Amino acid sequence: MPSTENKSSSISITPLPKHKFGCKIQLPEYCNNDPINLNDNDFNQLFEAVHKYLVVVIPGLAELKPKSQYLLTKKFDPTIPEPKGEGFGGYGHGKEFRHEQSVLRKDGTSVKSQPQVQILGQGTFTAGEPGNENGEDISLTHPSHTSFHKDVLTPDEIKHEHKTRFYRWHIDSALYELSPPVVTTLLGIKVPPATQTNTITYGRDSDDQLEVAQGATCFVSGAEAFRLLSDEQKEYALNTTIEYAPHPYIFISPARATSDGLTMVSEGKETPFDELPAWEEQKVKKLPMVWTNPVTKQHHLQIHGCCLFKLHTKKSDGSVSILDLEDSRKKVHSLMRPAIAPQNVLAHAWGEGDLVIFFNRGVWHSVTGEFKGVKSDGQDERRLMHQCNIASGVDPKTTL
Ligand SMILES: [Fe+2]
Repeated sequence: MPSTENKSSSISITPLPKHKFGCKIQLPEYCNNDPINLNDNDFNQLFEAVHKYLVVVIPGLAELKPKSQYLLTKKFDPTIPEPKGEGFGGYGHGKEFRHEQSVLRKDGTSVKSQPQVQILGQGTFTAGEPGNENGEDISLTHPSHTSFHKDVLTPDEIKHEHKTRFYRWHIDSALYELSPPVVTTLLGIKVPPATQTNTITYGRDSDDQLEVAQGATCFVSGAEAFRLLSDEQKEYALNTTIEYAPHPYIFISPARATSDGLTMVSEGKETPFDELPAWEEQKVKKLPMVWTNPVTKQHHLQIHGCCLFKLHTKKSDGSVSILDLEDSRKKVHSLMRPAIAPQNVLAHAWGEGDLVIFFNRGVWHSVTGEFKGVKSDGQDERRLMHQCNIASGVDPKTTL
């Protein structure tokens, strides 16, 4: 049975109250605050908890070293190939990750000693500050919907009404050549106090809103998203393969997203294929729309609505119907929107030292919040996090 008391000799799991998924875990004392020291039995419990609860929060790990975070992340996926040589190899994204045209270019920098671990956040951190072992100042920018969405909140709505949006609902994945990581680990090393709140609004055509701590990371369960579909939609999803665009983050860079962060607005602004960096047809990602959880056997609706290109659906007569870019976006939006309704969202309010491990193949997540300029001095808003996810050796599957 789950327990809230701290048992010093084994792992303790407490489901999050008021949510259909998510749990908090306390590590056994023998770990010395480093989950890489878990014995096989306790690691298996952690592994199962990540697949069952989808989002696992382990508090009190501000001192966790990048190497431990990397080794822990890797331990969740035995199919990960050993890194080949120096450099970027092994991270969830390929070499175009910080390409100057990519929408991910500003989202962080690497830990020099452990390049699979990324540093994300807001503000400038001098050499030697906790979380910055790179030997030089680093400057981090929290992503804002204002640089990604088509319709943006006004400065007044942001500064005075403290409104924000879901920046981009996504699965962590290169979605070109590499397979989606199984888990992502995210460590809050320096976080502002979670006393300020933001109100997430879903766009000017919706009254939905959600009150969250400033900078909360939001999650929804892909299993719940699948359950919310009609029988007809489930059948459609189970028979559909999503073809992602080549170098999708460069492809979508000139386009802008919908106000709920689920997909892109179709205005023909995408980078033409012949202007993308060199790409090969065989490296284009074609992934099922439904990924089956290997532990719970539940189906998860797993769509990266911003990066997709086409949908291929197998019909009962054996033929395949294909939707183009615009219709694909409309279709996935209709399938995904119910899942992000306020009551389905788990908004994690960061505490200093929180390690969040999430099943990247079973949830969608989004950055939220506006940092810069919301408080006059900006000092209270500095944030530094370490993130790690590593491309898997195999693609996710639907198991019927
Ligand atoms: Fe992410």
